[in-house]
Amino acid sequence: MELALELFPDTAAVEDGALSIGGVRATELASEHGTPLVVYCRETIVAQARAFRAIDPEALVAFGVKAFPNVALLRLLRGEGLGADVSTLGELEFALHAGLRGEELLFHGNNKSDEELTAAAAAGALVVLDSAEEVGRAAGAGARRVLLRLTPGIKARTHQSIQTAHDDSKFGVDLDGALGVLRDALDVLEPIGLHVHIGSQLARVDESLLAVDRLAAFCRRCRDELGWTPQLVDLGGGPGIRHSLDERVPPPHEFARALVERLRGEWPEPARVALEPGRSLVGRAGVTLYRIGATKRSGGVEYAAIDGGMSDNPRPQLYGARYAARLANRDGPPEGEFRIAGKHCESGDVLLGRVALPRPRRGDLLAVPATGAYTLAMASNYNGVPRPAAVLVAGGEATVIRRRETVDDLLALEA
Ligand code: LLP
Repeated sequence: MELALELFPDTAAVEDGALSIGGVRATELASEHGTPLVVYCRETIVAQARAFRAIDPEALVAFGVKAFPNVALLRLLRGEGLGADVSTLGELEFALHAGLRGEELLFHGNNKSDEELTAAAAAGALVVLDSAEEVGRAAGAGARRVLLRLTPGIKARTHQSIQTAHDDSKFGVDLDGALGVLRDALDVLEPIGLHVHIGSQLARVDESLLAVDRLAAFCRRCRDELGWTPQLVDLGGGPGIRHSLDERVPPPHEFARALVERLRGEWPEPARVALEPGRSLVGRAGVTLYRIGATKRSGGVEYAAIDGGMSDNPRPQLYGARYAARLANRDGPPEGEFRIAGKHCESGDVLLGRVALPRPRRGDLLAVPATGAYTLAMASNYNGVPRPAAVLVAGGEATVIRRRETVDDLLALEA
């Protein structure tokens, strides 16, 4: 059998062999909007948002904007009561554009510029201090209410590029130094909370629970040694999603719920919780559609090439990510295993090393699920390729939420 729909958004269906999402046929989406096209299912995003909100209705659920900075998406999430975690001036502007304000916004970054600190302060965002030297700079920029990011010394079992809380991490302040930073911050700012984020695409909750334990122990030290306790405890993002059938992860909202419960057990004093899911909010909601072009056999490998690749999804090259795929315009029993190559000028530009499909032919559509996070967000113009469009589908209608880039857009930057 071809890939079942379990990695796809909630509304994915196959009718007469053709894939539809949100009641819109993939063939129609591709002919109307071109390919590659990232198709987001509104219902799946809303369901994920509500599942996170249901963990604790009082909690601040802040979308990790880096997973897909998009104004329409931020508006949709804002309508569901979510805030945003931003880490650059650009992400802040996206969130402000979507109508988010004040303490619905958390401003992160290990090297915030003065301009960024000033903009975050002006927006009334909560600035998350990342180092001792930032205390004075944040105060100078007019920030007031801040959090401190802790580095609890945990090496999360995920790709090493997306671990963030190991001993020599570039992020945050280690637990030995954090008390001193907090003490300094109390002189010139109003520290209201603590933050921890141990990594991304986490498949197991145990290391995150350990991080919560260390955070709770640190809260006790703050109370005992500084007479200070956090009003806000931010447990970060990180729950993984399934990109392929052999990837196993707990449901993301259960992952997050376990952390919140652990915190309540280990640190029973009243504190509002914040969560910062990125991938788990939008990853499974997104499907990328590609058009198949050249096919060939080379050294015993059956190749099918798509009209995109590492410029619209660099995750296989960066993190060894493995995806699944199915044809979107027709169905049928697999007729072999195919290597899905991108169109870029290097051999490493392979989106899927091996996937069972009916024999792909020029003009077929390929659907790659679980591509809603960190794909368009990380897309480049390698080889002068314009970045894809994104549409939001629901109730049989598609709305463009990011227009396709054109070569003219690229030329507009040239001298
Ligand atoms: N909060 C902080 C402070 C973060 O640094 C991140 C992600 C998040 C929240 C959201 O994490 P999530 O829930 O999405 O795991 N480009 C990589 C992922 C980088 C994640 C960076 N920080 C990838 O494609 O796997």
